[in-house]
Amino acid sequence: MSVRALMFGTTGQLAREVLRQADAHHVKLTALSRAEADLSDPEACARRVAEHRPDLVILAAAYTAVDLAETEGVLARRVNAESPGAIARACASAGAALVHFSTDYVFDGAKTSPYAIDDSTHPLNAYGETKLEGERKVLDACPRAVVIRTSWVVSAHGKNFVKTMLRLAAQGQPLKVVDDQFGRPTSAADLAGFMLAQARRWTEASCGDPAFGLHHFANAGETSWRGFAQGIFDLALGPQAPDVGGQKTADRPSPATRPLRGVLDTRHTEATFGIQIRPWREAVAEIVAELQSQEAQSA
Ligand SMILES: NC(=O)c1ccc[n+]([C@@H]2O[C@H](COP(=O)([O-])OP(=O)(O)OC[C@H]3O[C@@H](n4cnc5c(N)ncnc54)[C@H](OP(=O)(O)O)[C@@H]3O)[C@@H](O)[C@H]2O)c1
Repeated sequence: MSVRALMFGTTGQLAREVLRQADAHHVKLTALSRAEADLSDPEACARRVAEHRPDLVILAAAYTAVDLAETEGVLARRVNAESPGAIARACASAGAALVHFSTDYVFDGAKTSPYAIDDSTHPLNAYGETKLEGERKVLDACPRAVVIRTSWVVSAHGKNFVKTMLRLAAQGQPLKVVDDQFGRPTSAADLAGFMLAQARRWTEASCGDPAFGLHHFANAGETSWRGFAQGIFDLALGPQAPDVGGQKTADRPSPATRPLRGVLDTRHTEATFGIQIRPWREAVAEIVAELQSQEAQSA
């Protein structure tokens, strides 16, 4: 029998990949667009859960505009903290399991080794604060909830680093990319695939199962944004790839402060679910190939 899942989000990177892969994982998915469930209205979102009574709720939408969150704090908090909290309460009442997503930006990036799930949090920006508050509200309200922190999410859809870099390379300008921020790039397709593969376990597991609670998912291998950009060019352009220059975070001011080392330790998650997360270069090669095939078809 299929798992009946209700997803908040249809247009984001993660939501699109979940939509694309759900059938292959025998997940019968109903996805709610922003028009059908606006996360700035927590009680309306909670009502959607009560109406649908799914086995599993997937909260794939979020306020993700990191710099804008510095000035839109009230809205960001409602979307990233209050609505997840209201949805989690509704899941607990309806007996549904809940999968929510969070970010490496809950950490301050001062740790020199990768962050484990139980490391202390200390967000440096408003987005990270609202996401951390969301994590807490979800885990407090719903004993059968999982919060998956991820980082540097990319895909062949929406606005993201892979697409931006390839566009800039096509314009032929010399590039300088930040080389003192480190993290683990993550394919939205891999994240969605992992989540859907575990859907049945979450729907069948009881409170206290280690499948619930905090988890970290990011593709293997840490790099800087500059290293990531160089990897993308190498994959897309081979020997014609331009050399990417480096730049310091301090020379590129932005409204929101970013952690310098948001590297997530995924070993707890890999051990709990018996998986091995593949290297980011392998996952990003597939994204680059998909973008190149889209371009060839539109030419
Ligand atoms: N992207 C990253 O690098 C990254 C890194 C770490 C963690 N994460 C987390 O991973 C999850 C998935 O991120 P993503 O990359 O898929 O995000 P994304 O591509 O930026 O998409 C965000 C989605 O949320 C929707 N949304 C925003 N405000 C909404 C509202 N008020 N009501 C309903 N929907 C709303 C957007 O809808 P519209 O299309 O209508 O605007 C969009 O579909 C999020 O929890 C995010 O915090 C992402």
